[in-house]
Amino acid sequence: MKIAILGSGLMGAKLGRLWAACGHDVTFAYSRSTAKLERLASEAGGAHASVSEAVVGAEAILLSVHWSRIDDVLDQAGDMSGQVVLNCCVPLNESNTELVLGTTTSGAEELARLRPEARWVACFNTSPSEAFDPVFARKDREPRPHLMVYGDDDGAKQVAGTLIADIGYAPLECGPLRTARFAEPFAMVTAELAYGQPGGTALTYRFDKLR
Ligand SMILES: NC(=O)c1ccc[n+]([C@@H]2O[C@H](COP(=O)([O-])OP(=O)(O)OC[C@H]3O[C@@H](n4cnc5c(N)ncnc54)[C@H](OP(=O)(O)O)[C@@H]3O)[C@@H](O)[C@H]2O)c1
Repeated sequence: MKIAILGSGLMGAKLGRLWAACGHDVTFAYSRSTAKLERLASEAGGAHASVSEAVVGAEAILLSVHWSRIDDVLDQAGDMSGQVVLNCCVPLNESNTELVLGTTTSGAEELARLRPEARWVACFNTSPSEAFDPVFARKDREPRPHLMVYGDDDGAKQVAGTLIADIGYAPLECGPLRTARFAEPFAMVTAELAYGQPGGTALTYRFDKLR
């Protein structure tokens, strides 16, 4: 699959590298350092490009920037009409301490409002990036950890489900994009568990229904 990474930081660099290792055609974009993008591309066996170049023909786009950079990235990305966009962003303030949107809307819904022609799906926002490598390394072990996925476009969810499974998670269907109102605050719980509580940062989770 041709994948554009818009935001090649903790999330984008790690996910892009792992997807490239699975054989996907990954293009890294949006960093303040072209040298960093070149290094990521060379290490992963992928490419690097500007945002506007990376989105052309991409079958999946990962949006992985700080909330304060959203307008800038979207300006460069254009309308992404008909393209599947995986959003892992949490709508946080500059100091990453408070959600700037919530309860009656969400970051995910705001993005869909800003780019209504794109096929939005939210995932990876409820996992610390430190978990991706260990989850990938344990891909053969069952049961796999869950990863929440939600959105209004079933086809986009299927694409996301494939990419989630490639990392080593079991996609957990969590309903429509509106779920973001509750999942984005939950992302803050996963961040507290990973970074604020003892036991390390490679946090995973599973939800099970008892029979
Ligand atoms: N990190 C996590 O574990 C985690 C978990 C769940 C959700 N999230 C969410 O995922 C999103 C991405 O998080 P992250 O931790 O990957 O962020 P990050 O490490 O800060 O990466 C963001 C990327 O955006 C680039 N960038 C920032 N300002 C820029 C500018 N002015 N011009 C061009 N590029 C710029 C950064 O460039 P540089 O390469 O130059 O730094 C970096 O490549 C956020 O919305 C966050 O809330 C993160």
